Parts: sequence; structure tokens; C-alpha cells
Amino acid sequence: MKNLPISISEDIRLRFLRDDEKSFVSQEKELPLVIEPVEEKSFAVLQLLLSKNRDWFNHQLDTYGAILFRGFDIENAEQFQTILELHNIQLESVYHFGSAHRLRITDKVFTSSEAPPDTIIAPHNELNMVPIRPYVLAFFCQIEPDLYGETPIINTEKIFSHLSPSLQHKITTSPQRFVRYVPNHLLDLVFQGLSPEDITKLLQEQGFDFTWEDDGSLYFDCSYITLFSHPRTNKLCFCLSIVDALISRQWYRHISQRYSFWQRLYYNWLPAKLYKGFQQKLTTAATVVDSSQKKTSSLNTYFLSTDGQSTTLTEAEAKELGEAEWKNAVIFQWKQGDILLIDNLQVAHSRLNTKLKRKILTAFGNMCNIRDMKPA
Ligand SMILES: [Fe+2]
Repeated sequence: MKNLPISISEDIRLRFLRDDEKSFVSQEKELPLVIEPVEEKSFAVLQLLLSKNRDWFNHQLDTYGAILFRGFDIENAEQFQTILELHNIQLESVYHFGSAHRLRITDKVFTSSEAPPDTIIAPHNELNMVPIRPYVLAFFCQIEPDLYGETPIINTEKIFSHLSPSLQHKITTSPQRFVRYVPNHLLDLVFQGLSPEDITKLLQEQGFDFTWEDDGSLYFDCSYITLFSHPRTNKLCFCLSIVDALISRQWYRHISQRYSFWQRLYYNWLPAKLYKGFQQKLTTAATVVDSSQKKTSSLNTYFLSTDGQSTTLTEAEAKELGEAEWKNAVIFQWKQGDILLIDNLQVAHSRLNTKLKRKILTAFGNMCNIRDMKPA
């Protein structure tokens, strides 16, 4: 149990989220650290505070894993970007390797995923399926959702510590392997306009095995550890990115009251094998931008056993992992103007079902290489 830090200013109040700000009760009580104005809530006040105390704010991000600025007058993408730059975050202006359809708002701010409103985006660390990924990820709530649309966050050390010894052993001893296929017509979405030569160069730089098909489609493949020591705090990080419909099924079951009677039946009672088959079809369909295209991209994840064999999670293991995620997740309602800063190595995020209107913007930076991390 961490205590609240001592504030650096009389202008801000520090606290954790109250139960009435959450959609579900959770055993996680100290994520994120909430920073709110005492009286003067202008953007200028926050700007001044950050410019004078950058190291203090960054230290809180290391300690708590996520910071939520709530109650300040932050209105647009430019102000959001300024707040991140005042933290000295080196923001990325490209989003290579993504699979979601995103719109660019400024040179370094994008819309968050435009995934179908009913879909839950399963917990993951951003860009976990590639070696070079963001240390810091941020969200800004420009238009608060009428209903639902939460972005759950989860301390990954807590997920890991809630797993059974046998599943912990499997995860500890098996690197994760990511196999991705991108058809020709989706290369632009995933690599944002790079030429095939530049894509080849990028894949070589990041150490992928890859194959170009005759029709211009691309397979690429990479593997690395999922458990490592946080470079600044030495805390255990469990970088999570397992594509398995039976993990997220646990999430659908917990929020099944948000769905119709028939959907509830589907999430709760369909035999696992059938469910997995249906969900895989739906997930692939969600990545297709132009519905006239037949070929879609795919991402498959495996664990590499010591003898080099690729295995997947069993049905029971997937269920166990989904439960551990859910139990440790913080699911809070967005408020207009919220800025959420996440340490993307310590903390995973997700997205629940949503109702329009909702506008959440995102940005990320301070890229780091998983191969530089010390195994836990
Ligand atoms: Fe994400």
C-alpha cells in the first residue's frame, strides 16, 4: 500500500479515485494518482506547475504507474500535446505497426481506436507486439462518453502475482512469439505510407524475420520476453499481449448486463470452441477498412517452449488470465478534459463497449526497446 505523495503546490490536490467515479468496484485502490486543481483550474495554471516541477510529476508516474489530471480546463489536442511536452515526453509522430484505424489530429496526437462501439478491446500494453514500443502512453478525453466507453487500466505486476504457479511458470520460461500477416491493401494502414523498401528497412532494424509474398503482402515474425524489471523502479513488468478470445470473454461476461439478452447468452453459454471460432472471424472483420476487400490482416501469438515449439494458452489458462485482469482492473468514467498518463511498461489498458458520442485522443512517446530490458 502506497501513501499519497506530499504535494508540491497548494494549487493542486492529490487523491485516488473514489468508488463513485468507478463503474465497477475493484481491489485496486491506488491506480491512478489523481491530480486536481484546488481552485484555479485554468490550462495556464497546470502549464506553470508542470514547467516548474517536471521531475516531480515524472517521479509520480514511475511510482504509481498512471496519473490522471482531472478538473483542469483542457480543451483541445494542442493543449494536450503541450502538457505531454512539458513532461519532457519525446512524442512520436508516426504510428507504425498499429492495426486500428486512427485519424491524425495534430502532428503528434491521434484519435484512439475507432473499433466498433460494442467491442471490448482486450487489455494490452501499447505496441507490445513489436520490440520498440512507447514507455509513456497518454489519453485525453475531449468529449466525454454519454455512457460507458471506459479505458480500464491494470497494474501488470498485480495480474502476474494473481496467476497460479503453473501459469506463472509457463509465462516466465516461454518467450512470446508474434506472427503477423498484412495483405497488400492494408500496408498503408499499418505502415502509414512507407514504401516497401522502407518497410523492409524498418523490419530489419527491429530484428524481425519477414517474407514478402508475390502479391505484395507481408508476413513478419518476432519473439521476446514478457517479464522484465522496470528500468527505473526495478518493479516487475508483465507486458501483456495475448490474442485469445477466451481471455476477453471473461470481460464480456462481467459486463454482460450492458448487452442484449441474445448477446448475454452468447458470451455466457456458447461452448468455448464455437465461441473462439466466431470471435476470430469478428476480430478480423474489424480490421478491414474497405469491406469490399476479402483478405484481412491477422496477428497470432504463441509461447515458445524450451524445445522451440509454439504453444498457446489452454482454455483454463485463458480464463484464469482474463479473471486476473478483471480483478485488478480500474474501470472509471471519463470526464471532459481528463488527461491520463500511463507508464506503458507497468500498466496495461483496454477499452470497454461505448456509446457515441465519445472522443478520446491519444499520443505516445519515449520509445524504448524490449531487448534492452533486464529479464525479471
Ligand atoms: Fe491501445
